[in-house]
Amino acid sequence: MTVKATLKSSESKMDLFNQLEEAAQFIRSRTAVRPAVALVLGSGLGGFADELIEPVKVPYEEIPHFARSTAIGHEGRLVVGKFAGCPVVAMQGRFHLYEGYSAEQVAFPTRVFARLGVRAAILTNAAGGINLEYGQSALVVIRDHINLQGQNPLTGPEDLRLGPRFIDMSEAYYKPYRQLALDAGRRLGMELKEGIYAGLLGPSYETPAEIRFLRAIGADLVGMSTIPEVIAARQLGMKVLGISCVTNMAAGVLDKPLNHEEVLETGRRVAGQFKALLREVIPEIAADNPATDAR
Ligand code: HPA
Repeated sequence: MTVKATLKSSESKMDLFNQLEEAAQFIRSRTAVRPAVALVLGSGLGGFADELIEPVKVPYEEIPHFARSTAIGHEGRLVVGKFAGCPVVAMQGRFHLYEGYSAEQVAFPTRVFARLGVRAAILTNAAGGINLEYGQSALVVIRDHINLQGQNPLTGPEDLRLGPRFIDMSEAYYKPYRQLALDAGRRLGMELKEGIYAGLLGPSYETPAEIRFLRAIGADLVGMSTIPEVIAARQLGMKVLGISCVTNMAAGVLDKPLNHEEVLETGRRVAGQFKALLREVIPEIAADNPATDAR
């Protein structure tokens, strides 16, 4: 019985690995660009992918085993091209747990990027500002996170081809990249802050009581994404930079209701600053991670 159960679970994980390989092969067949950096563009920030030179756009529905983007403000395609002379792959729209996807489905693209040989990821998101020092539209470098989503992409049978099971998360957001982003912000006159991102399941926004709780446990920002991707990236040894855009102050901070339209609108409003910041950091991160072929 035990032997049978073991066999069964290793078979199902083999499927995931093969699915990743199939998706990676498909993307390789569509472009000769071998990306050095992966970018995940959060709500309202997807416009950045339109800045890539010689873009190859691949809708998610064409990529084997990819989920579909159902969230408004998320285009739902991969864009592979060059930015500031560096080969990058950008997700114009991500998958979220609140869409009903499993953590494994949400993390699938990140694992595909690793199969493509990408060693660094810049994960961006829209977030509510809990820290009262933040203002709407601020860009914040994520220093660490608190996973309150109740899910983790590493659950399930162990498959060492995906990396070890019990991974260290003491520096999930690579310190030299955080520093590099803070320095770039300073050069651009932005004075970026660093903060702790609390990830919740969503899709309802938080109550003011929940925001007070999150502040008490040390969170500066709150959002509904990013954490599954970070965990999968770390399992594969990718270096992560996380950037939040404070699209709104969190529930109860200001005397007004939250809405998704405001989140998207603020994201679009900071697009210029966001692009300027990425123009500074991407070449440095790409130089640290020359594109390699998948191993
Ligand atoms: N809460 C959760 N997720 C968010 C918010 C928020 O206030 N703003 C943007 N994403």
